Amino acid sequence: MQDLFYIKDVSRCVGKEVELRGWVYHRRRKGAVSFLVIRDGTGSGYIQCVFVRGELSDEQFEITDRVPLESSVLVRGVVREDRRAPGGYEILGSQIELIQEACDYPITPKEHGVSFLLDRRHLWIRSKRQRAILTVRNELLKAIRDFYDQHDFVLVDTPILTATFAESEVELFETEYFDLGKVFLTQTGQLYLEAAIFAFNKVYNLGPTFRAEKSKTRRHLTEFWMNEAEMAFYDNEMNMDLQEEFVEYIVQRTLERCRGELELLGREIAPVENVRRPFYRIEYSRAIEILREKNFDIEWGDELGGDEETAISMSFDKPVFIMNYPRGIKAFYMKLNPEDPRTVLNADLLAPEGYGEIIGGSQREDDYDCLIERISEFGLPVQPYRWYLDLRRYGSVPHSGYGIGIERTVAWICGIKHVREAIPFPRTIRRIRP
Ligand code: 4AD
Ligand code: MG
Repeated sequence: MQDLFYIKDVSRCVGKEVELRGWVYHRRRKGAVSFLVIRDGTGSGYIQCVFVRGELSDEQFEITDRVPLESSVLVRGVVREDRRAPGGYEILGSQIELIQEACDYPITPKEHGVSFLLDRRHLWIRSKRQRAILTVRNELLKAIRDFYDQHDFVLVDTPILTATFAESEVELFETEYFDLGKVFLTQTGQLYLEAAIFAFNKVYNLGPTFRAEKSKTRRHLTEFWMNEAEMAFYDNEMNMDLQEEFVEYIVQRTLERCRGELELLGREIAPVENVRRPFYRIEYSRAIEILREKNFDIEWGDELGGDEETAISMSFDKPVFIMNYPRGIKAFYMKLNPEDPRTVLNADLLAPEGYGEIIGGSQREDDYDCLIERISEFGLPVQPYRWYLDLRRYGSVPHSGYGIGIERTVAWICGIKHVREAIPFPRTIRRIRP
């Protein structure tokens, strides 16, 4: 197979003739010279091609002069180093072929509204900012996988269709499943990861999860990606220690590899560099005090909504764990806090700068009888949880785990407001296309 030329390899091709395949990003003419900036999606992705009238046929020169933006082209030419060229290299073009002429590309350099752009998300992802965000996402996902590989975790893929739910009954997408009745799109793979620790000790998953959340906030998608980890013999302290190490690693690794992208996005770098252990740890009760000092109308026992999370997260210059929530507002599987059974052994990790919750985690109830009680405390039927209860009958151990939302973490690292730009094709209550 013939090796294709990619812009990311341009520094190795100085003085050589190459065939560049890509899309026209920018076009301009100065007298007898045409400049086309071509992008091919690789590396930093853009290179200037220079065409001089007389050095290629008139017909070809005319193409360089009128080819519409986003048309696909093939350019032959010689690579040269040029300090003045954006990126430091350019191609002296000797030939151009129009692969397909793009007519009236709808996204132009003028300002467009977000809803106009989201309707054209299939085209919008080509733009510089969107490419930068999705590059950060790609590097973040690589860092996540590398962390688990380096810490002896085994990847266990958890199912998407499930008859057992774990988070919230009101946020389920349901579907009829042949003769077997109602099933749901998964909200979490946690219960299955709990089964898998008995096979592999430390496990993780990475995949899409679904929540029919009515919330129309900048933090909520109906389909989002989550990475979850579950560890045998970990209590909630160890769980938080691991999360600190994990978050520091994935954030610093992504920063190291994506500094250019973050700069392009206008992200202030210092707060990202500051994401180093130790993070802050406060009790839920303390969080309520802080909020009341800030004049929030909130009582012990209430949930922390978006505004509350923002306020707390603004009060700390690094991520902060909020520990030991009231048992009634968290999931049934969390272990009761032996020191105060009104609360559970859990922690949510809030990212700073107003971003709010990125991780939910807890120690799990590992006692058979207590778990049955907790299931009925939440008014849930026991039958669908029979298999899950088995895990408390055959070699139960203390164990803990957590789940991190990928889009919220990408949005935080990139310094963008809304999670909808942190996923290639966002799904929200109002949006299922493209
Ligand atoms: O806090 P959650 O609901 O925790 C769980 O699902 C646990 N079973 C995880 C575990 O212990 N294995 O969700 C985890 C994270 C949140 O902290 C948030 O970052 C993200 O998932 N998340 C969402 N992200 C985007 N849109 C939504 N609607 C989200 N709901 C949760
Ligand atoms: Mg949560």
